[in-house]
Amino acid sequence: MIDRIVILTGAGISAESGLSTFRDKDGLWAKYDLSAVATPQGFRKNPCQVLEFYNMRRAVVSRARPNDAHFALARLQRHYKGEVALITQNTDNLHEKAGSTRVKHIHGMITSALCSDCGNVWPAPTVMKESDPCPKCHRSSTRPNVVWFGEIPYHLDKVEELLTAADLFVSIGTSGQVYPAAGFAEEAARYGAATLELNLEASSNSQVFDTRVFGLATETVPAWVDELLGQ
Ligand code: APR
Repeated sequence: MIDRIVILTGAGISAESGLSTFRDKDGLWAKYDLSAVATPQGFRKNPCQVLEFYNMRRAVVSRARPNDAHFALARLQRHYKGEVALITQNTDNLHEKAGSTRVKHIHGMITSALCSDCGNVWPAPTVMKESDPCPKCHRSSTRPNVVWFGEIPYHLDKVEELLTAADLFVSIGTSGQVYPAAGFAEEAARYGAATLELNLEASSNSQVFDTRVFGLATETVPAWVDELLGQ
């Protein structure tokens, strides 16, 4: 039996829930200037535009429902005899809505707000305004609790611990283009883990994986989980 499974998900797992990915042809970076809405510089230059971008996405996330891939991972966490760790690059809360727990959101969560001054994190208002005061320090330094390009992702120490001990590393719905997440498979393999990619198509680092299964997440993920659970 595989004792320790580490799973990394990306935007592709939420695509069939109606949430845009980033680099598909109709993705967010085809419509928005990444440097304007997903960097600290962009926020400093035009905070209103950045808050609008996240307010729009937060509204879409609030209406989105988990899909069979999210539910399958929650089922795996509940029933698998070994350890299942879930790391996500996604800032949506569809894993939690599907019943997953202890999800490591390394790029933060669009559903929470961050105080740039005191580091306080609290549930984001539906419409975040630049003037919103931090509930803790009361300064107007509210921003989305999302890790922007050039910023340090969350939970990297814990991720490192998980990768060094993993027996199986599974990447689901990510293009493998953004580090450090894009390097997790290789790192896990260096410590002896088997690696599996479940993606719509070959990603930038597909060659790193021992096994690759291409298809829709709502088909490949439940099939993989059923096999693991012997169902
Ligand atoms: N089922 C499975 N995979 C899918 C599906 C689907 N229905 N739809 C799309 N995909 C795959 C695409 O083929 C692509 O490889 O999901 C991947 C999405 O890639 P990206 O859009 O680059 O998203 P992601 O890899 O999560 O981006 C990583 O980049 O912009 C930053 O912070 C942002 O967390 C994000 C990071």
